[in-house]
Amino acid sequence: MESLLRFTLLFFAFTTFLASASAHRDIVGGTLRLPSEAISRFFHEPENEGTRWAVLLAGSNGYWNYRHQADICHAYQLLRSGGVKEENIIVFMYDDIAYSEENPRPGVIINKPDGGDVYKGVPKDYTGKDVNVNNFFAALLGNKSALTGGSGKVVDSGPNDHIFVFYSDHGGPGILGMPVGPYLYANDLNEVLKKKHASGGYQSLVFYLEACESGSIFEGLLPEDINIYATTASNAVESSWGTYCPGEDPSPPAEYSTCLGDLYSISWMEDSDIHNLRTETLHQQYKLVKDRTLNGNAYYGSHVMQYGDVGISENLLFQYLGTNPANDNYTFVDENSLRTPSKAVNQRDADLIHFWEKFRKAPEGSSSKITAQKQVVEVMSHRMHIDNSVKLIGNLLFGTEKGPELLSAVRPAGKPLVDDWDCLKNMVRTFETHCGSLSQYGMKHMRTFANICNAGIHKDQMDEATAQACVSIPSNPWSSLERGFSA
Ligand SMILES: *[C@@H]1O[C@H](CO)[C@@H](O)[C@H](O)[C@H]1NC(C)=O
Ligand SMILES: *[C@@H]1O[C@H](CO)[C@@H](O)[C@H](O)[C@H]1NC(C)=O
Repeated sequence: MESLLRFTLLFFAFTTFLASASAHRDIVGGTLRLPSEAISRFFHEPENEGTRWAVLLAGSNGYWNYRHQADICHAYQLLRSGGVKEENIIVFMYDDIAYSEENPRPGVIINKPDGGDVYKGVPKDYTGKDVNVNNFFAALLGNKSALTGGSGKVVDSGPNDHIFVFYSDHGGPGILGMPVGPYLYANDLNEVLKKKHASGGYQSLVFYLEACESGSIFEGLLPEDINIYATTASNAVESSWGTYCPGEDPSPPAEYSTCLGDLYSISWMEDSDIHNLRTETLHQQYKLVKDRTLNGNAYYGSHVMQYGDVGISENLLFQYLGTNPANDNYTFVDENSLRTPSKAVNQRDADLIHFWEKFRKAPEGSSSKITAQKQVVEVMSHRMHIDNSVKLIGNLLFGTEKGPELLSAVRPAGKPLVDDWDCLKNMVRTFETHCGSLSQYGMKHMRTFANICNAGIHKDQMDEATAQACVSIPSNPWSSLERGFSA
């Protein structure tokens, strides 16, 4: 009886969130056609262009995370039609979507409701367990001997070259997801970028990042003098948003029970898809993407941010993405943006949508209905376990009065999440040793672990509190440490 009640309450909370009304913004804009000659004299192509390189990475797996790999495949097609060579594009994706038994169109991946296949031709450079932090860093640094598995393709770039990195996944304060092995920590990423700069590995590097709290990856960490310009889907304290999700307008075709894209990602790509990229700067795209990702009111949206050497944003997109000759006559002008979706789904809830859709669609009384129900309950109970354990640890360490405030405190803009990143990793490991895996949802609590470090708590104090809070690791599959520790 009690569990039935709890289940009902969970569904009530969940369906309320799904049903919440949304303002429909009717921004319809066409792409203006202007003769290319009229504007070409304003833009000079640099004499020594250098080679364009790109690293594309989807950090998740699982059909409920369809959208991240769809984003990455879309980016690949965009770069190819822009003329970037396959040998210069390095793709990291788990590759469990196209042929997933849940995929209604086997062998096909789409990134928008009426979109075509973006999977065809995408190279399988790093797939499955080869999608990990070590290989990502090795590929970026061009260090073949550090690779484990994969195609061996790396960014073998020189001082005249331009590098574009696009990463789409779940994240949390100071952390980005990876399907295998430890997650990626912000300080390690920034160290790798500095190393690439120090080795004369590029003329400029542009990093586009889609993840929850993605601003925290560069906030107070990315130097302004190493020729890197980064934009992120969200600031350091908010989630980013999935889009083209079931129940949205526009929604995916009926047979899809998953979100097809992420709002920031599809915004920059759908803009790039239709314009002559010799006529659009990074800054113009930043503004347009910021607008579309904010989604009118920031209720179903997030704040796109920029970091590093902002001067680089005066450069043309062409320098990084090339341009599709078919768009030569489609000059970018401000305000010719695309339609804003009526609604979007918080990235952290996008998996719930998937499991809920599966449950809703399964025939009454069928075994698939029971399986789907079990999945929803597992997801929800993992979330409650994580949230409750973190809260309890906070109370044990700081008392019920000061705990909640201390744990959620946000440092001033320009300051990194934490000063001692090894401490942060230790805290995560300690937590997972006693309480089980954080999993993608648990990444949201990284700020809590960071604040525990910032408050000077020692590892043994944390160990004691965590052992008290979690007597054993729940048998729930989400809590399993099978994929290894997050740190
Ligand atoms: C490449 O990686 C190997 C193995 O991790 C390391 O020993 C070596 O120092 C790296 N080379 C460079 C140039 O960083
Ligand atoms: C662009 O417009 C010019 C002049 O109208 C035309 O000759 C050319 O074929 C067009 N290019 C494309 C790619 O449509």
